[in-house]
Amino acid sequence: MTPSAIVRYLDQYVVGQDDAKRTVAVAVYSHYKKIEKSLRDRVEIAKSNLLLVGSTGTGKTLLCETLARALELPFVTADATSLAQTEFVNEEIDAILQRLIEKAGGDIARAQSGIVFIDEVDKLRSLSGQARGASGESVQHALLKIMEGAPVRLKSGQYIDTTNILFICGGAFVGLRSILARTHAFGFISTSGGDDQKILDRLNSRIKPTDLFEYGLIPEFAGRLPIVASFQDLDKPLLVRIMTEPRNAIYRQFHEILQAEGVELAIAPLVFEQIAELAIEYKVGARSIRGIFEEMLNPVLYLVPDNPKIRKVSIHSLFEAARYLGEPGAAPA
Ligand SMILES: Nc1ncnc2c1ncn2[C@@H]1O[C@H](COP(=O)(O)OP(=O)(O)OP(=O)(O)O)[C@@H](O)[C@H]1O
Ligand SMILES: [Mg+2]
Repeated sequence: MTPSAIVRYLDQYVVGQDDAKRTVAVAVYSHYKKIEKSLRDRVEIAKSNLLLVGSTGTGKTLLCETLARALELPFVTADATSLAQTEFVNEEIDAILQRLIEKAGGDIARAQSGIVFIDEVDKLRSLSGQARGASGESVQHALLKIMEGAPVRLKSGQYIDTTNILFICGGAFVGLRSILARTHAFGFISTSGGDDQKILDRLNSRIKPTDLFEYGLIPEFAGRLPIVASFQDLDKPLLVRIMTEPRNAIYRQFHEILQAEGVELAIAPLVFEQIAELAIEYKVGARSIRGIFEEMLNPVLYLVPDNPKIRKVSIHSLFEAARYLGEPGAAPA
């Protein structure tokens, strides 16, 4: 798959985040080209692991899962916080690689070109004077080894070489923006055209290993994540699109559930906007959408099975009861 084909596939499931999609698509494409080349020419090519930075619920995990599906590669996710809480980091890492082999159907060669997504790496920051930081730092050291690429002997006795495994790390990195604001100084260059401002903005929002270092990642770890994809916070129009556009969008899901009962679901555009506004207040990105949606439709899903005369349910506002239409007597009391 070419980078643009990857982006087109991602577009079906992940709304917005165009910069991140492109960055990831190019990085993944180059990664697998490098593998091909190094197999052919027997040259070692340094690999570039990826870092996804963005607030919670903006699509980082979703993008990785979708990516793995698109490429039909074995894919596992792991959580850096749970790595930091265990005494047995190396055993946990062992377990991650073991899961990757399972996902590859036991085929080690296939597992060796899979993708490992490690979420919440920002929680591994070492803060001076904090006990917690020490364990985070040791997890970074442990991860370094496998990210770099090394033959690892698993508990099961199997060997797996991590050289061609693509590691994608993710994290919210709260507060990184203020570090960026301090370390970048492109803003003072005066510009006239709108395009120039765009380029400046892009330069200013670029995250460098030194910024990650300042944030609290050890330099070796930050240095192994040279490609950074930034996820934007989701605004109202994007949240509305998330509810309706993706192939498995929540609106489509409930539409189908009710259709199976012979009922048409109609939701007014205003309702999507109201849900988006609430979601913004909840500050967990798109993650709160499902809960709000389910709460809204709970009374409907409760009534419909007992009232076979209902043919249509329409919702005009999040703050008004649903209206039921159908044969006479369809509307429940
Ligand atoms: N850009 C998006 N397009 C479509 N759906 C999205 C998008 N962002 C978030 N969602 C929805 O919100 C849910 C949570 O998103 P996801 O798990 O990708 O968040 P995340 O960025 O990994 O957050 P965290 O940092 O908390 O792990 C997804 O399952 C999806 O339903
Ligand atoms: Mg996630």
